[in-house]
Amino acid sequence: MVTVTVCVGSSCTVRGSERLAGTLEALIAQEHLADRVELVGAFCMEQCSMGVSVRVGEQVYAGLDPDQAEEFFYEAILPLLGEAS
Ligand code: FES
Repeated sequence: MVTVTVCVGSSCTVRGSERLAGTLEALIAQEHLADRVELVGAFCMEQCSMGVSVRVGEQVYAGLDPDQAEEFFYEAILPLLGEAS
């Protein structure tokens, strides 16, 4: 199980964290990964730089663009599932 934590602090919310989380949620459903990827929210990760902060496992990605949520999913989340099963 991989835990993906999307920041819903005020700065990230303004930059589109809800939209990013919605895209990730849709992709998780589309790929039938609801039992392998847990999507949760968290408050400020103290990385309020240029975009949304997301933590995947222990790794924090700061400055994500909600328009690139799909790329992020396939590049940063999906590859982990091979190791996490
Ligand atoms: S509000 Fe998201 S990292 Fe600060």
